[in-house]
Amino acid sequence: MGATTPISPTLLSRGVSIREGRAYLHGIAVADLAEEFGTPLFLYDAAHIRAEVTAAKEAAGWQVAYASKAFLCRELARIMDELGVHMDVASGGELHVALSAGFDPGRIVLHGNNKSVAEIEYGVAKGVGLFVVDSVAEIGRLERAAEAAGRRQPVLVRVTPGVEAHTHEYVMTGQEDSKFGFSLASGAAEAALGMVKASPWLEFAGIHAHIGSQIFLLDSYAKEVDALAAMVKAHSPRVLNLGGGLGVAYVSGEESPGFDAWAVQLYAALEHNGIGPDVQIMVEPGRSLVAQAAMTVYRVGTVKRLEGLRTYVSVDGGMSDNPRPVLYGSGYEAFLPEAADAERDQVVTVVGKHCESGDVLIRDALLPSSLEEGDLLATPVTGAYGYSMASNYNRVPRPPVIFVDESGARVVVRGESFEDLVRLEV
Ligand code: LLP
Repeated sequence: MGATTPISPTLLSRGVSIREGRAYLHGIAVADLAEEFGTPLFLYDAAHIRAEVTAAKEAAGWQVAYASKAFLCRELARIMDELGVHMDVASGGELHVALSAGFDPGRIVLHGNNKSVAEIEYGVAKGVGLFVVDSVAEIGRLERAAEAAGRRQPVLVRVTPGVEAHTHEYVMTGQEDSKFGFSLASGAAEAALGMVKASPWLEFAGIHAHIGSQIFLLDSYAKEVDALAAMVKAHSPRVLNLGGGLGVAYVSGEESPGFDAWAVQLYAALEHNGIGPDVQIMVEPGRSLVAQAAMTVYRVGTVKRLEGLRTYVSVDGGMSDNPRPVLYGSGYEAFLPEAADAERDQVVTVVGKHCESGDVLIRDALLPSSLEEGDLLATPVTGAYGYSMASNYNRVPRPPVIFVDESGARVVVRGESFEDLVRLEV
């Protein structure tokens, strides 16, 4: 099982410090936050988010559109708006949350392989900056909505470039056999582009592609640019949106390539293909902007030691607040916020409280052997696709979301109560 070292600081957000074994977030003990807000708890380092977004923005002359599916609430949308980035929304619901936070509609990029007519009309009426059209049927629907609103709608045409990024099958999106977009190889993309250009109610703004998520091998992006180059040169788009997908480290040994290296790779490929500064490059990172900003804090309940087999450490959450281990087999690490610098000298299995054996958060977690019932246990790097994919399975209320920065801690999404679990019932 390798080293038994304490949790690596590289997995923690920038505002975390460890003093005499206790973990602090911007000077507030994680244990005090757990005491005040209860567990489980999503603890976001808001300053970390600001720093990551700023780093992404400054990495190149590109525009950054935050992929809000990774995590969205109004406070986050306000931060993104303040930082001046664009926002990718992939449903009427995401659009609504962003707009209700006052996010500038002109900087919204609206996605979806199956936008309903109502979602299309909502987006057009609100003045969404860019629609990413995904199918022939949608082009017709959007054209009718734009005409009815008397507004010419700027669009990006979503192209599947036929590039397979090395990632989990469920999050691979750039290959030909996909529910998303228009295939480049078959000529469908070219035909869609022609339809958009011919429409009096649609404005051809550019081309979009996204090759997948949790990508560590940056040459996948160079292949994406190579694949799109001929189309870009033939159609002179105003915007070329190359999607998101930059990988992040969840466990020690992994390392995110980072925004700068991503930019270097992309711009080298653009230059190599003769695509110059007249085309505005846009990228759409979600995970890499928010994943590392948060940790989930749980309380340990039952510890079950099966001699010679394994030790089950049960926490007060599980697959309802983090379905990623179950869905994708994703790995996480854990540490004890009150013994954050302790050697993690035992291997245990961290499980949730849901009624199925598959409710495993970490199969082989390193944790200190001092661990006992009642301890706090934290899993870092849960800021992306955690809360946003949380459910009420087993009618477990969703945890609160707390933002912490230099000015203190505040609840941005309150935790659900049992009453909330029946509030939709009529
Ligand atoms: N743009 C488009 C069109 C996308 O479909 C996605 C992610 C992104 C941008 C942002 O990708 P990111 O930078 O966050 O990797 N639930 C899965 C991830 C699904 C990603 C879906 N699309 C997970 O938990 O790993």
